[in-house]
Amino acid sequence: MKNIVVLVSGGGTNLQALIDAEKRGEIVGGKITCVIASKPDAYALERAKQNGIKTRVLVRRDFADVHEYSKAMLDALNEEKADLVVYAGFMTILDETVCRAYPNKMMNVHPALIPSFCGKGFYGLHVHEAVLEKGVKVTGATVHFVTEVCDGGPIILQGTVPVLNGDTPEVLQKRVMENVEWKLLPKAVALFCQDKIKVENGRTIIEEQ
Ligand code: GAR
Repeated sequence: MKNIVVLVSGGGTNLQALIDAEKRGEIVGGKITCVIASKPDAYALERAKQNGIKTRVLVRRDFADVHEYSKAMLDALNEEKADLVVYAGFMTILDETVCRAYPNKMMNVHPALIPSFCGKGFYGLHVHEAVLEKGVKVTGATVHFVTEVCDGGPIILQGTVPVLNGDTPEVLQKRVMENVEWKLLPKAVALFCQDKIKVENGRTIIEEQ
């Protein structure tokens, strides 16, 4: 059984989607064993507690710099014997030591179609604001492995939604979450737990289900 450690910073709706998928028996071979939050008041922590999942909190300002923070995170992941680390709305920067220690074992959900609207400064609602500002007609979300290049690791799954007249960033965010993120993140985690994702030359190959 693979230990899944989920990193969160906010509301935790993606964490909830993972919890619900696990409860439905869709994550064969894996179990969410710990949730680590970068903010003590993240509602995601409540969701974990309500479901009997161990929680930890690592706040960036309690550490001198990004390297000290990353070392503490790496220690925590090692203590939890993580087989898979999932960024589910985790908004705090870690240095390269963490993703190097877990190559192709850390995944992130990003609320746009990478390589568009990604990289530094593109997180949360800002992504949807940029999408509306540009006027693209299709957007979506991407689940990818985490490497030292921000939002640049191998793409695992992508899904799309239309951008509609009159959309606000909030309305678009909700459409992307409901139709793509909450479905694709649990799916990618399930594929990983069944060893169905291979990485070759920076690209993933998903074994047919
Ligand atoms: C999600 O939309 C996720 O894709 C995004 O933050 C939101 C977290 O919501 N992540 C990023 O922007 C990372 N670059 P949640 O806390 O309700 O899951």
